[in-house]
Amino acid sequence: MTRPVRAFVALGGNVGDRRARLEGGLSRLAATPGVRVAAVSAAYENPAVGGPPQDVFWNAVAEAWTTLPSHDFWRRLRAIEHAEGRVRAERHGPRTLDLDLLAYDDVVQHDAELTLPHPDAVARAFTLQPWSDIAPDAVVPGTGAPVVVHVARLLGREPEAFDALTPVALLRPTSSAAAPRPTVLKDRAALSAWRGSVSGTVGFVPTMGALHEGHAALVRRARAACDRVLASVFVNPLQFGPSEDFSRYPRTFEADLDLLAREGADAVYAPDAGDLYPEGFSTAVEVGGPSQGFEGAARPGHFRGVATVVAKLLQRTRADQAFFGRKDAQQAAVIRRLVRDLDLPTEVVVAPTVRDLDGLALSSRNRYLSPGQRAVALGLPAALDRGRRAAAGGEREASRILGAVLARLAADPGRTVEYVGLVDAEGYRPVERLGDAPALLVAAVRVGTTRLLDNAWVAAPAPEPAP
Ligand code: PAJ
Repeated sequence: MTRPVRAFVALGGNVGDRRARLEGGLSRLAATPGVRVAAVSAAYENPAVGGPPQDVFWNAVAEAWTTLPSHDFWRRLRAIEHAEGRVRAERHGPRTLDLDLLAYDDVVQHDAELTLPHPDAVARAFTLQPWSDIAPDAVVPGTGAPVVVHVARLLGREPEAFDALTPVALLRPTSSAAAPRPTVLKDRAALSAWRGSVSGTVGFVPTMGALHEGHAALVRRARAACDRVLASVFVNPLQFGPSEDFSRYPRTFEADLDLLAREGADAVYAPDAGDLYPEGFSTAVEVGGPSQGFEGAARPGHFRGVATVVAKLLQRTRADQAFFGRKDAQQAAVIRRLVRDLDLPTEVVVAPTVRDLDGLALSSRNRYLSPGQRAVALGLPAALDRGRRAAAGGEREASRILGAVLARLAADPGRTVEYVGLVDAEGYRPVERLGDAPALLVAAVRVGTTRLLDNAWVAAPAPEPAP
């Protein structure tokens, strides 16, 4: 069986109903045999530059996993443009739908038909910004640098090109088939029977339910890369502190099943506490290293609870890959370390944070925010963006990058800052000075009684290696 490879497609158009054209293109891509759409950025509105005067563009980037060879995939993109009404004369003027193959696996190649990566892959803000939303850490083939480093280079040179972009819509491919509900596995015996009955690779998405588009993105990514997708829904009492919201944590199981069905999950393990922690359960998994500081300091025992339940879930599911969100970056670092240190045979995949159109990272706890509090909460991603821009502008000293973030956070009242930091994403150790590798800017604030976590990659505009 051919394993799928990852490809990135830029979508753009500036004629008529742009949302319909972009979503039409995505839907045709998703309906292509041998192609799965794993992630789609928001659509950004972008004034047209160059060529004859023309209407504003909408641009987005999608991540696809495909078993099609590169040239077949590329020809399929041409056919989709055509089906969405594009005509050749549009080449230099307005266009209905433009699909560019930015990158295909790690291929670097050039022939009469196809150049990979795309010659303009890292040259344009309207491509790089949406690309970094869905795959900030993807290394652009032939450049040795991840997308965020290319963003930093261009942002340092042309900040106004990024200022000109406005997120205008969240896009999704429409799927025609009514999705069957996933099989609900209530206990260990049912899970083990299901696991024994499936062949091929299994992708696992552990959750605490109250599912939103951030969780959906993990399921979609698992669906794209694995033969079977298993989710879990379990509000793990071990990871809540005595004064935290365990009892009032939102529980929305029926809606969760709808979301899992829509995203194509095959099964969901939804045990009760007794199934995971039977009478006499008395072991805990304590991960050192990345558990220390930040969330580890703010929530004593939290990562012990997370590591214990995830170790058990990985043992029970024996998944080939398990998917976690960058939203909880420290948790992801702890789980990577857990898997490495205990030799668990599962590959940990960390997927980027999914945001609402206004920039707020999705979280099950956002529902606690009043409209006024939500407006205050938006200062958090805005502050992280200040840090990102400071670094892109050439600032490498952590203290000054953090200073820019704190200044923005202090600009309006209603938030309590718990911490801000600049860390390496794997070890979660503070970084004093930004090197050539990207680092993670992390922050936690409190708005009312709601704690909000967020983070952003920051990178220095490292000079491009000589050709
Ligand atoms: P939960 O908060 O339900 O999150 C489940 C997964 O979804 C986590 O990997 C989290 O990082 C990811 N996630 C949440 N919001 C996201 C967003 N906006 N974008 C991308 N991913 C997002 O994290 C837990 O549950 C628990 O600690 C768990 C790992 C299940 C152990 O109990």
